[in-house]
Amino acid sequence: MNEKRILQLHVNGDLYEVLCAPNTTLLEALREKALLTGTKRGCDLGACGACTVLMDGQAVLSCLTLAVDAVGRKIRTIEGIAENGELSLLQKSFVDHGALQCGFCSPGFIMSATELLAENPKPTRKEIQRKLAGNLCRCTGYIKIVEAVEIAAAKIAGGAS
Ligand code: FES
Ligand code: FES
Repeated sequence: MNEKRILQLHVNGDLYEVLCAPNTTLLEALREKALLTGTKRGCDLGACGACTVLMDGQAVLSCLTLAVDAVGRKIRTIEGIAENGELSLLQKSFVDHGALQCGFCSPGFIMSATELLAENPKPTRKEIQRKLAGNLCRCTGYIKIVEAVEIAAAKIAGGAS
């Protein structure tokens, strides 16, 4: 039962048909089959959060998710976060407030924070810190990342989109 088969994955509103083995992870399917390389492979062990994507709106670690379990679900990756060709408010906030340096961790942080703001548009600093606790960054020291999420949340609460 190790045969590869074609899986249909719905990613960012598009349909991808990808040839996967039973043990192909969603991360591998996205990066190596669908060629959506915005989602990053850090540890491949569930420890760094770099591979975070949304599955039916919930943040999941794509390195710990089998591609076959993503069939029939709506997957959103960092490539699907921009709105009408423009960076999302959260993405702009990361850029404008120095919340990224090398940028390797940024897709994972932005996916986690996107889920947070969808569920809780007015998070406290503690709630932001708790939500992002599973995402690791080796460059920024985290403070600017948390501030960027706070600033984006304040703008959204103020009616910006
Ligand atoms: S690559 Fe998935 S958690 Fe690190
Ligand atoms: S900006 Fe480099 S790891 Fe976070």
